[in-house]
Amino acid sequence: MESRQRAAETHIIALPFPAQGHINPMLQFSKLLTSKGLKVTLVTIIDNELTKAKHGSVIVDSISDNSEENGTISTMEEYWKNFSSLIERKLSEIVEKQGKSGRPISCLVYDLIMPCALDIARRLGLAAASFFTQSCAVSAIYYHVYEGRLNIPSEQTHVSLDGMPPLQSYDLPSPACGSEYSPALISLMTSQFSNIREVDWILVNTFNKLEAEVMNWMASQCPVKLIGPLIPSTYTSKRLEDDNDYGLSLFKSNNNSLKQWLDFKEACSVVYAAFGSIASLEEKQMEELACGLEKSNYHFLWVVRESEQKKLPDTFVNETSEKGLIVTWCPQTEVLAHNSVGSFMTHCGWNSTLEALSLGVPMVAMPQWADQVTNAKYIADVWTVGVRVKVNEEGIVTKEETEMCIREVMEGENANEFRRNSEKWKTLAQEAVSEGGSSDKNVEKFAAELKCI
Ligand code: UDX
Repeated sequence: MESRQRAAETHIIALPFPAQGHINPMLQFSKLLTSKGLKVTLVTIIDNELTKAKHGSVIVDSISDNSEENGTISTMEEYWKNFSSLIERKLSEIVEKQGKSGRPISCLVYDLIMPCALDIARRLGLAAASFFTQSCAVSAIYYHVYEGRLNIPSEQTHVSLDGMPPLQSYDLPSPACGSEYSPALISLMTSQFSNIREVDWILVNTFNKLEAEVMNWMASQCPVKLIGPLIPSTYTSKRLEDDNDYGLSLFKSNNNSLKQWLDFKEACSVVYAAFGSIASLEEKQMEELACGLEKSNYHFLWVVRESEQKKLPDTFVNETSEKGLIVTWCPQTEVLAHNSVGSFMTHCGWNSTLEALSLGVPMVAMPQWADQVTNAKYIADVWTVGVRVKVNEEGIVTKEETEMCIREVMEGENANEFRRNSEKWKTLAQEAVSEGGSSDKNVEKFAAELKCI
């Protein structure tokens, strides 16, 4: 009885970086913690109507920054300075308010991309858990850079790192296509590890069997706990009721008949193409991609965010309406779980990658920047669930290359192998998060430890 009362009182703050690819896994993790008897307030720094949608039992405190200073921000350093002072101000207010209302907060789970949150947690007297929204392999690479064992960009063409397959320099995390590495970007990527030894828990959104070797190496450096894949439970363990969507979207869909469109297609006949919430393709690249999708002659569903729509070739939507459907946003996990979807043309964001692996969908990997590049290497050469596109001398994936890669994954000589491997990873992902699975045990242990602080 006493421990049940204690459990009901344990209250934590979850602090994602305010971008879709960071909010989704943190929100999913928060739902899991509430299912284990904890109270979770997820703090987002985006005040958007859509953030008021359902989030299960997680309380969402959506805060906005009304300060004047923001108008003058011009560099990445200034952005982070302002951002961290905003977080400190708002978190102090929330911790004080909750304490006064008899719901004291004991721990901050923060996105590792904001290492400054650890100092804030300490100043507020909270325990702290850092949360990686990237793969273990990518985290290990950044860690090597931080420790001075590796440079990005690398002077070597081949790189050999513990627990990882041989990498070429173009498999390492990179800046946005066509742009240069800036010292600020490198420092942002590596500063994630600046205070990692002082944190109480390190949680990673991946699972043991997916990244066993590199996980073992990381665990020899710092006590990482793998807790993923963090995707809506309907598609994996089914342990959370009606959990078929992340529940907090920053984007709006412009199509209500998408499910019906998919329902009318044959099994494994549709190519789903989407590039996450941030990536922005050049106009020339959009053109080549559009032609490649059309030339492949498969049905395709393509997410082109509202801000990107102007880059679509003029007559493309009308001319391809028999074969293709273009939407501004969609419920991606639901789409990937649909049996008409045969492959996923993806930018290899870590969430998209984990979703495809967990739902057994082979991929055409078209990475854009940062961790996506390394994820693409793993998709093609380690997990063997698809192919990675090649860029030409101008850095463009041509229509011919797009068509060829789609065909290779949908019907090529390795298509069956990609499908078999995808099914294998799907099973292993489900096992990891089901009762007694490796990730489930780690979440359980974390929740139990929180109840004791
Ligand atoms: C980024 C990085 O790319 C990623 O690697 C990092 O670790 C987190 O931040 P993003 O580029 O947006 O995120 O890609 P991704 O990680 O794939 O996240 C996008 C999320 O939006 C996914 O959960 C996906 O399901 C969702 N989504 C995308 C939709 O729900 N609908 C869409 O139409 C497109």
